[in-house]
Order: sequence, then C-alpha cells, then structure tokens
Amino acid sequence: MMQAEILKAAAVLKQAKHVVVMTGAGISVESGIPSFRGEEGIWKRYDPIVLDLEYFFENPQASWAAIKTLFYDFFGEARANPAHFALSELEHAGIVKSIITQNIDNLHTEAGSKQVYEYHGNTRTLTCTSCHSVYSREQVDLTAPIPRCPKDHGMLKPNFVFFGEGIPEREATLSHQEACRCDVMLIIGTTGEVRPACNLPRIAKQNRAKIIEINIEKSLYTLEHVSDIFLQGKATTMMQALKHAILDKPV
Ligand code: APR
Repeated sequence: MMQAEILKAAAVLKQAKHVVVMTGAGISVESGIPSFRGEEGIWKRYDPIVLDLEYFFENPQASWAAIKTLFYDFFGEARANPAHFALSELEHAGIVKSIITQNIDNLHTEAGSKQVYEYHGNTRTLTCTSCHSVYSREQVDLTAPIPRCPKDHGMLKPNFVFFGEGIPEREATLSHQEACRCDVMLIIGTTGEVRPACNLPRIAKQNRAKIIEINIEKSLYTLEHVSDIFLQGKATTMMQALKHAILDKPV
C-alpha cells in the first residue's frame, strides 16, 4: 500500500509546476533534535514561557539558560539528515522551488537548499537589544550567563521568533506568496498547531494546490482532510523513497 502511495505522490510532484515544501521539527528529529510536542517533546521538559518575549526581557538569565541548552548545545552537534539532502537534490533537479521551514536549526541550508524561508527565524545570528547590531553566533561569547554586545554591552537576543513576537516581514510576505502560487505543497513533520505558520498549507489548499504530507502520525492536516496524500513514516525513509521514485533512481 505505501509503495503505491509513494508512486502516486511522486507522479504528482513530477508533473507539478511549482512545488513548495513546508517543514516542521519532525524533519530534524532524525538529526538528533527533539521535536517540541509529543512524548519526547521539548515542551514536556521545558515550560514554553522560556521562549516568551516578555519573559525573556524580565528574566534574561533564566531564559538564556534554557535557550543555550536547547538551541545552542543541542543544535551545535546536529547535522542535516537524508531527508534534508533529498529536498536539496530535488531543488537542484528543478522539482522543489522553495522550502518554508518553521525550524531554526539551519539544516536545510546546511544540506544545500538555496530557496529557504525561515518563518521562525534562525539561531545563526543574534541582535543587540540596545544598539541593534547583528552578530553571527561565532562573533559573540555565548558562554556568558547573559550574552552581551561587544559594542555597547547590551543584551543579545537570538534572531529566532519568540512567542509573542511577530513573524519577520520578508519571510511572512514571501511565504504567503509561495503558498498562493504553488500547485503542490509537500508538508513534512509538523503538527500544524502553531499560527500563523499552520495557515500556509490551508492557503495553498484554498488556492487548489495538491497537498502531500509526510508524518509518523496523523496531524491536524490529516485529521482535517487538508492532506490529499498521507505518507505515514519517518521523514528520512519517505523522502529517500520519494526522491528515488521522482528521479527514477533504483532505491
Ligand atoms: N519524521 C516525520 N515526522 C516526525 C518525525 C519523523 N522522524 N518525528 C516526529 N514527527 C512529527 C510529529 O508526529 C509531529 O507531528 O513531527 C511533528 C513535530 O511537531 P512539533 O513538535 O509540534 O513541531 P512543529 O509542528 O514544527 O512546531 C511548530 O511550534 O513550538 C513552536 O516555534 C516552534 O516551530 C515550532 C512550532
């Protein structure tokens, strides 16, 4: 049954004119980065308040302690996995036009994908909250209890989107445009619970795109029949099978 679904999804992707991919934490789980929700999820061990913007400014030391453990210690070792590389190969082959990712782990870029919209920002750069200078993570001392700006000693904030913070203007606009223009959207590894990101597949669907979903279990997209084709399985397994079926390579 699954092979038939893979071949069906591959046929849809091969004949598509503009394929957009939407990824969530699930695509990076096999790189060793835990997802946010689910049994082993980050929110089972940390209170999401640590990533709330107001809390960050009122309790910088506590918030920074969690941020470092979660996003700089973990992500530091994580490497792109075969699912990330498969998407990069499909972009190179002209099948995938862009990736909208909710992830801040930089693994799509590391795998070679070029057209990546980081809807929730990234951990690569940080901004000074007083002089607004921007630094790469290598340019600052992240071991300090509260990392500070080399110029004016202001507190640094990672450039990912905190709860209560807006989506970066450029990413919001371009991602919305992509959701409107795609004729196929491939969703990989997301619960579809967090707004406004979770609206993008629905916007694509309203614009008559075909929706293909990869997840190890049903998400809101599956349960609410947004997905037209549901490939139940791990991102690496499904993406490698899809890539081979699309590029006609023997598995
Ligand atoms: N392969 C495919 N899917 C997987 C895998 C895997 N190996 N492992 C887990 N999943 C699926 C889970 O079934 C779940 O549907 O990935 C999804 C992960 O869901 P979340 O942890 O909620 O991640 P995501 O949907 O990306 O969260 C969205 O919430 O906390 C905020 O800003 C954070 O960007 C994040 C947003």
